[in-house]
Amino acid sequence: MSEKNMQIVLARRPTGAARESDFRLVETEAPEIGDGQFLIRNHYLSLDPYMRGRMSDAKSYVKPVEIGEAMAGETVGEIVESRNADFKKGDKVAGPFGWRLYGVGNGEGVRKIEDARVPLSAHLGVLGMPGVTAYVGLLDIGQPKRGETVVVSAASGAVGSAVGQIAKIHGCRAVGIAGGPEKRRYVVEQLGFDACVDYKAGRLWEDLKEATPGGIDVYFENVGGEIFDTVLRRMNPFGRIPVCGLISQYDVTEPYGMKNVRSILVNRLRVQGFIVFDHQSRRPAALKDLTQWVSDGRVKYRETVAQGLESAPAAFIGLLAGKNFGKQLVKLI
Ligand SMILES: NC(=O)c1ccc[n+]([C@@H]2O[C@H](COP(=O)([O-])OP(=O)(O)OC[C@H]3O[C@@H](n4cnc5c(N)ncnc54)[C@H](OP(=O)(O)O)[C@@H]3O)[C@@H](O)[C@H]2O)c1
Repeated sequence: MSEKNMQIVLARRPTGAARESDFRLVETEAPEIGDGQFLIRNHYLSLDPYMRGRMSDAKSYVKPVEIGEAMAGETVGEIVESRNADFKKGDKVAGPFGWRLYGVGNGEGVRKIEDARVPLSAHLGVLGMPGVTAYVGLLDIGQPKRGETVVVSAASGAVGSAVGQIAKIHGCRAVGIAGGPEKRRYVVEQLGFDACVDYKAGRLWEDLKEATPGGIDVYFENVGGEIFDTVLRRMNPFGRIPVCGLISQYDVTEPYGMKNVRSILVNRLRVQGFIVFDHQSRRPAALKDLTQWVSDGRVKYRETVAQGLESAPAAFIGLLAGKNFGKQLVKLI
C-alpha cells in the first residue's frame, strides 16, 4: 500500500467549548494486516455529539480517548486487502475505525453492507447508530400510542428527524423543536411533522403551547437545559421522556439548573436515560424497518458533508453549535 495513513488524534482535553487546537492531524505508516485481519479504506467518517464526552476524562459509560490516541468514531468504507475468509476485498463495511483514512479490522464490531438500495453514507445515519437510537428510544422507551403527541428536540438532526417520522408512521402527532426558520420549515415541509417550534425565535413556551394543544405525551430529549425545563411544564399525566442526549450541556462549565422537576412528580412521568449500545438485540428489527421506510420514501434524511479528514475538527465543533443540517459526515475519498 503506497498511501500513508492520516489520522486525527486528541491533542488535549478541552475545558468548556472544544477548539480545533484540541486535535492534531498526524501522518503514520500504512497499517500492515496479519492473519484474520483486513484493511479498510474509509470513505465517510461519522461525527457524533457523543465524541465530545470521549474527549473528557469525566466518568462516563465508556472510557475516554487518551491524549495522542486517534479520535474514536464510526466509518463506512471498502476492504482493500484481506486475510480474513469472511471479508473479501471489495466488501463494503461499517465499523469503529476512528478518525483516519485506513483502518484494520478482524470482524469484531464490523457490519457488512450488502443492501445497495441506499447510499453508503446513510449507513452512518438513518441506517446506522442514530437511526437505531431513534427507533429504540421512541418505540421501546417512549412507547407512543396512536393519537398521542410526541415532541422531539434537535428535530432536524440525525436522531431527531427519524424520531418524528417514526412517530408519524405510528399514528402520532409529531412536533419538533429546532434552531432557526430554515430548520423549522424543513421539519414540517420536507419531513412531514405536524408542527415545529423554532427555539431561537425567543417564544419557546408560547410556540410550544400553540403546537401542542393537547399537551405532550412523549418527549424525546436530545438537548437538555432550558428546552427540557420548558417542555416539562407541558407534559401530560403519565407521559414518558426517553433521555437520549443533552447536547446543550456537553460544552458548558456551568450546567443549567432545572426549575420544573415538580412536573415529574405531579404528572407521574417516566424519565428514562438510555444508551443505544445496551439495545443491540433490537438492532436487526430497527434496521429492517428503517431500510424499508427509507426505500419507500416514508423516512427521509439529510446530510451535511465536510470534505477531507483535515476538516473533521471544525465540522465537529460546528455540530456542537448546531451548524450541521442533518447527519454530519466527513468525506474521506
Ligand atoms: N443515547 C444514545 O445512545 C445516543 C445515540 C446517538 C445520539 N445521542 C444524542 O442524541 C442527540 C442528537 O444527536 P445527533 O447525532 O442526531 O445530532 P444532530 O441532531 O444531527 O446534531 C446536533 C444538533 O443539536 C442541536 N443543538 C446543538 N446545540 C444546542 C443547544 N445549545 N440547544 C439546543 N439544541 C442544540 C443542533 O440543532 P439546532 O440547530 O436545531 O439547535 C444540532 O444540529 C445528541 O444529544 C446526542 O448526544 C444519544
